[in-house]
Amino acid sequence: HARLTPFPQGFLWGAASAAYQVEGAHDADGKGPSVWDVFTHLPGKTFQGSNGDVAVDHYHRMEEDVALMKEMGLTAYRFSVSWPRIFPTGRGEANEAGMAFYERLIDALIAAGIEPVLTLYHWDLPQALQEEYGGWEDRRIIADFEHYCVALFQRFAGKVKYWVSLNEQNYNTTNAYQLGTHPPAVQDRKRFFTANHHAFLANATVIAAFRKHVPNGLIGPSFAYSPAYPASSAPADMLAFENAEEFTNWWWLDTYCFGRYPQAALAWLQKTGEAPDIQPGDVAILQAGLPDFVGVNYYYTTTFTDNPRDGATMQRINTTGQKGTTPSSGVPGLYRTTPNPHLPTSNWDWAIDPTGLRIALRRLASRYDLPLMVTENGLGEFDKLEAGDKVHDDYRIDYLRAHLQACQEAMSDGVQLLGYCPWSFTDILSWLNGYQKRYGFVYINRDETDAKDLRRIRKDSFFWYQTVIASNGQKL
Ligand code: BG6
Repeated sequence: HARLTPFPQGFLWGAASAAYQVEGAHDADGKGPSVWDVFTHLPGKTFQGSNGDVAVDHYHRMEEDVALMKEMGLTAYRFSVSWPRIFPTGRGEANEAGMAFYERLIDALIAAGIEPVLTLYHWDLPQALQEEYGGWEDRRIIADFEHYCVALFQRFAGKVKYWVSLNEQNYNTTNAYQLGTHPPAVQDRKRFFTANHHAFLANATVIAAFRKHVPNGLIGPSFAYSPAYPASSAPADMLAFENAEEFTNWWWLDTYCFGRYPQAALAWLQKTGEAPDIQPGDVAILQAGLPDFVGVNYYYTTTFTDNPRDGATMQRINTTGQKGTTPSSGVPGLYRTTPNPHLPTSNWDWAIDPTGLRIALRRLASRYDLPLMVTENGLGEFDKLEAGDKVHDDYRIDYLRAHLQACQEAMSDGVQLLGYCPWSFTDILSWLNGYQKRYGFVYINRDETDAKDLRRIRKDSFFWYQTVIASNGQKL
């Protein structure tokens, strides 16, 4: 690979997680319930009723987990803070026990030579705010989110340099307000755009506050970027592809990075009556809170084709793990998804496309002219625990290697990439898919309903990534 530039010194070799998916201890030390604590206990919402009450018990095994990170050689670890651990009812006085947990984690990471990458919001809204005013659907969320974030800025400004504001606002709100699969589980496009508008304002507001409290830090949102492909070069498919890129990607990224909505999408939504209520002063708020970098969560590309006005609408994603069961979904008059015959898929029907990551990074770098960080990328699969505590996840190694090569190619193309945080460090609760859909370098001995002994077991990919990091990416 002589044509490839080497990974730079100081490249962040990370791994990622999120509070609800790993911590457990759902009511420990004064923590209040989040919308996910409530939602996963409703019948029929998740695979076999799995929930994060115990998760992988990271809350009680944090020191052991950080020791494993150190052994693997990580130089960064992305985690999220649970808002209701800090503010059990969403606002008011901070809960010191919750703060103290994250302080211990951050201190342990720093002592191990691992740069903390702190995500402020990974979907676990305090249930109290959902009940009080409908959470993201009310403008009061902006002040409450700012209050929560500023408490973290003040506490950790001296220790944490890299901050992620909102994780996958696009994916979470699409599930929450269009597909009805995440709380509050409604299907209403007007409410979808309203909740998103408030999230954009909240994001910009906390970035503006960040400048004051963490002047030497860097902050940006993490976006679930699935680059759009056209199904063919037919003009109707090309238009569907343009529509998809604008409605499913630029709607968020332009608003974060330019402080305004993309024109064609806004015009369409104003005609359909679904556009958010943009009040005087809102654009100024958006423009006063632009990010330092864009966090890229990349799993797959999506291929689009023409969709007549009476065509396919949004559909639930495949949560069964059965290949070939994902229905076509889309917005009539704009686009619909279609399988890409050139790409293999995982057991969850996710297209495996390393070149898509190179394309993703290049598109974003060219459009926004900002540094990027891969804040998630990984393969959810059924892993098999074998005799002698072995997990031979060569499929995961192949996936990660190919995607790291794509990162290197993108950097050689001129992209400024701060780091790579594969999803995930340990196995986690996969929101709707339970514990069977595993992502980690470290296997957790538990299943949907039985927490067993929660033993930590290094998979083959653990040792592979250890070598990659030790060679600063020379030995992929
Ligand atoms: C992203 C999320 O959507 O992808 C993670 O930020 C999530 O929290 C990951 O776990 C994989 O998705 P899933 O549905 O397979 O768990």
